[in-house]
Amino acid sequence: MKKAQYHELNSSSYQLHIHPLISFILGAAMATACIFLYISANPGSTSSFNPSPNPNPMELSANWTGASKQEQVDQGVSEEIKEEVLQMEAMEAGSTGQEANTTALIPTPAPEANDPLKELAEVLKKAANEDNTVILTQINEAFAAPGSLLDLFLESFHAGENIERLLNHLVMVTMDQKTYDRCKSLHPHCYFLRTEGVYYNNEKTFMSKDYLDMMWGRNKFQLTILELGFNFLFTDVDVLWFRDPFRHISLAAHMSISSDVFLGDPDSTSNFPNGGFLYAKSCNKTIEFYRFWQEGREKHAGRNEQEVFNAIKAEAVSQMKVRFQFLDTAYCGGFCQLSKDLNKICTLHANCCVGLGNKIHDLKGVLEDWRNFTSKSADERRWGNFHWKVPGRCIH
Ligand SMILES: *[C@@H]1O[C@H](CO)[C@@H](O)[C@H](O)[C@H]1NC(C)=O
Ligand SMILES: *[C@@H]1O[C@H](CO)[C@@H](O)[C@H](O)[C@H]1NC(C)=O
Ligand SMILES: *[C@@H]1O[C@H](CO)[C@@H](O)[C@H](O)[C@H]1NC(C)=O
Ligand SMILES: *[C@@H]1O[C@H](CO)[C@@H](O)[C@H](O)[C@H]1NC(C)=O
Repeated sequence: MKKAQYHELNSSSYQLHIHPLISFILGAAMATACIFLYISANPGSTSSFNPSPNPNPMELSANWTGASKQEQVDQGVSEEIKEEVLQMEAMEAGSTGQEANTTALIPTPAPEANDPLKELAEVLKKAANEDNTVILTQINEAFAAPGSLLDLFLESFHAGENIERLLNHLVMVTMDQKTYDRCKSLHPHCYFLRTEGVYYNNEKTFMSKDYLDMMWGRNKFQLTILELGFNFLFTDVDVLWFRDPFRHISLAAHMSISSDVFLGDPDSTSNFPNGGFLYAKSCNKTIEFYRFWQEGREKHAGRNEQEVFNAIKAEAVSQMKVRFQFLDTAYCGGFCQLSKDLNKICTLHANCCVGLGNKIHDLKGVLEDWRNFTSKSADERRWGNFHWKVPGRCIH
């Protein structure tokens, strides 16, 4: 298949090869009828290139939560958010079938379980670094199963360069009891995000109603984190971490977002963003922007949050004065536009890759290559011409 090539503007002599899936989709007519079986831990990976978004406004009625409300006081948080979290709590306490019953059998997350917002704030506080920043990921049963993505994800922190310490700041968000229990068995910071009527324990068909609810729910949850005063770096669980990516996140930006395809200018909204790896600073600007983003769900019915981001990003920059940084794929990259330099790479996302088995296969290979690389001396690493073994099933 034909490869598109771009010159990276700030480093003169090297070319970036674009993944064939992207070339294909960029080149193909948008009408191409493709069904993408969407892997929910990897929201952004294919979404910005989705050729058939399948809009169905009729399916957009479900809300994040939906039970009765209780009066609670928690300063510094908007009434709307407070109400939503309280509703989640009511749901959790109520008899919503299997989930509630299971919940009753297994000790619930925190003693303050009757105030989930407080519970969330406490989980975040325990995990946050001195700058009130947390790393967030969201897992489901399929990704958390032994031998699946979560194991590879965690392994990469141990294999990476001095980033094990970052695990102290990682919060895993789970949406079903089994995954929550699995998290607790592996990791100190787990949060159970309860939602009504949607079961997140398996793969969601791309752009189905459940998928949209899930993605927009996740977006709203990120807004809650900001409103609680925490900065976050959200990472999909199919991202391997090798070096500290915070060193590439600009103080000048309100939000830093990874790119499926990075065109050379970190300020340009022409880059192809991927919300599967995203940093947001808690400040009025980002909170305002996330609210605006949420409103976009109604204006762009049937679209996922990634598409709406693309639709509103220019306005956010020109009208709201939000400063975005689009991350260079040489450092925070993925299969779409593979960073070839192991001396630079911080994170690598299995984007442009459909199917859980394919992702696991290729990420395993990547981890092996990384281990080979790190077993060598500093001189060998610099001059040894290391690279990822390609092609895999998605990586090329
Ligand atoms: C969803 O939320 C909106 C506003 O919060 C409300 O007007 C609407 O009735 C809710 N829909 C459902 C299905 O609960
Ligand atoms: C709750 O769990 C118990 C024990 O597993 C079971 O016997 C009971 O039928 C369950 N109740 C509901 C409402 O599912
Ligand atoms: C941020 O928003 C709050 C609440 O709307 C407001 O009181 C505060 O002045 C704002 N801060 C800045 C720096 O604009
Ligand atoms: C390790 O990397 C070197 C240099 O790229 C390569 O020649 C060698 O085959 C690799 N070894 C393994 C076990 O992958």
